[in-house]
Amino acid sequence: MNPAYTIRNIDTVFSPALVFFKDLIRNNIAEIIRIAGSTAKLRPHVKTHKTREIAKLEIAAGITKHKCATLAEAEMLAQAGAVDVLIAYPIVGPNCRRLALLMKKYPQTRFSALVDYPAALTALGKAMTDSALTLDVLIDLDVGQHRTGIPCGPAAISLYEQIAKTPGTRPDGFHVYDGHNHQEPIEERQAAVDALLIPVLEMRKKLEAKGIPVPRLVCGGTPTFTIWAKKDFPGLECSPGTFVLFDHGYGSKFTDLKGLVPAAVLVTRVISRPSSTRITFDLGYKAVASDPPAGKRVILLDVPEYTAILQNEEHLVVETPQADKFAPGDVVFAIPAHICPTCAMHQRAYVVENGEVTTTWDIAGRDRVLSV
Ligand SMILES: Cc1ncc(COP(=O)(O)O)c(C=O)c1O
Repeated sequence: MNPAYTIRNIDTVFSPALVFFKDLIRNNIAEIIRIAGSTAKLRPHVKTHKTREIAKLEIAAGITKHKCATLAEAEMLAQAGAVDVLIAYPIVGPNCRRLALLMKKYPQTRFSALVDYPAALTALGKAMTDSALTLDVLIDLDVGQHRTGIPCGPAAISLYEQIAKTPGTRPDGFHVYDGHNHQEPIEERQAAVDALLIPVLEMRKKLEAKGIPVPRLVCGGTPTFTIWAKKDFPGLECSPGTFVLFDHGYGSKFTDLKGLVPAAVLVTRVISRPSSTRITFDLGYKAVASDPPAGKRVILLDVPEYTAILQNEEHLVVETPQADKFAPGDVVFAIPAHICPTCAMHQRAYVVENGEVTTTWDIAGRDRVLSV
C-alpha cells in the first residue's frame, strides 16, 4: 500500500467512508501555486470539495479568489472567509432574488456572476436594483463545450455592452471554460487552447476600444490548467477544481499533472466472500458516484487482478483469484475515478494528519440550501 495512505487508528473509521489526507491536499494547493508562479492567477473552483476547511487551507496559502457553481457553495465560501466569489453558473428565476439576499447577508464578500442571455441579465439587474445592490457580471463565452455560454461575436459583444447599460450590473470580464478539452497529448490540448483564445482576445480588444473594461478572463479547469497558467495577459485567472483532491480519472489520463496526488480515498471493508473467487465490499453507488459507468468507478488498492462485476446501492462485488486472501472485516482503500460527485455523496470526511484520523470536516456545500 502507498504509505501516504496509512491510517493507524482505522478502527475509528466507519465504512464506507470518505477520507481526506490533509498533507496531500496542502501538496496539491502548493503545486498549483508553483505551476502558476504565484496565487495572483488562481481562482480555484470549490465544486470538488464543497468544504469550508479546504477553502480555508486555500486562503491560508494566499489564494484570494474562488469560483463555485451553486449558491450554497457560494455561502459556504463566504462562511469560510472568502472575499471574492464568482458563481460560474447561470442564475435564473428566484435564485436572482436569493443571490441578492446572499450579498446582503455577507457584505464582506464580493460576489460576481455569469450571464449568457439578455433576459437573464435583465432579471439579475432587477433583483439587484430591488435590493439597492450592484453585481459584477461576466459574460459566459461558449468556447467549444456547447453546454452554456454564447460564442464570441457580435451577439456576445452586444450582451457585454448591455451589462454596462443595465442598472444593478457592472461588466467584469469573460468566463472562458473549456471543459471539452480533454485531449490526452499535451500538444493537442495546447493547440486547442491557443486556437480558442484568439477570438476571445480579439473581442476583448474591441470592447476595450469602445471604452468598456474587461477586467478579468476566468479560464479553464484542471486538464488545461498547466497551459493557461503559462499564458500572460492582464486579468488572467485559472479555475481548476479537481486538482485539490485529484482522482484516478484525471491522474490516469494527464501525465503533465504528475505533481498532483489523490488526496481523497474511500475506505471500504469486505462484508462477504460469497464464493471462492468473489469478494463483496460495502462500496455501493451510494458511496461512490455512478460516473463513470459501472466497473470503472474506483481503483481498489492492494486487491490484485480483480474485475468489478456487480455494483448495487450498498454493495460492490469483485471477482479475483486472490479472494481467499480476504475475509469479512478487512479494510481496503479505493481511489475514486471521479472525486467531485463522490465527495457530494458524503455528509462528512474523516481527516488524516500524520497517519491518524484527527477530526471530520462537513461537506457543507453538498446541501442545496445553507441559510439563504
Ligand atoms: C465552469 C467550470 N469551471 C471550472 C471547473 C473545474 O474543472 P476541473 O474539475 O476539470 O478542475 C468546472 C468543472 O466542472 C466547471 O464546470
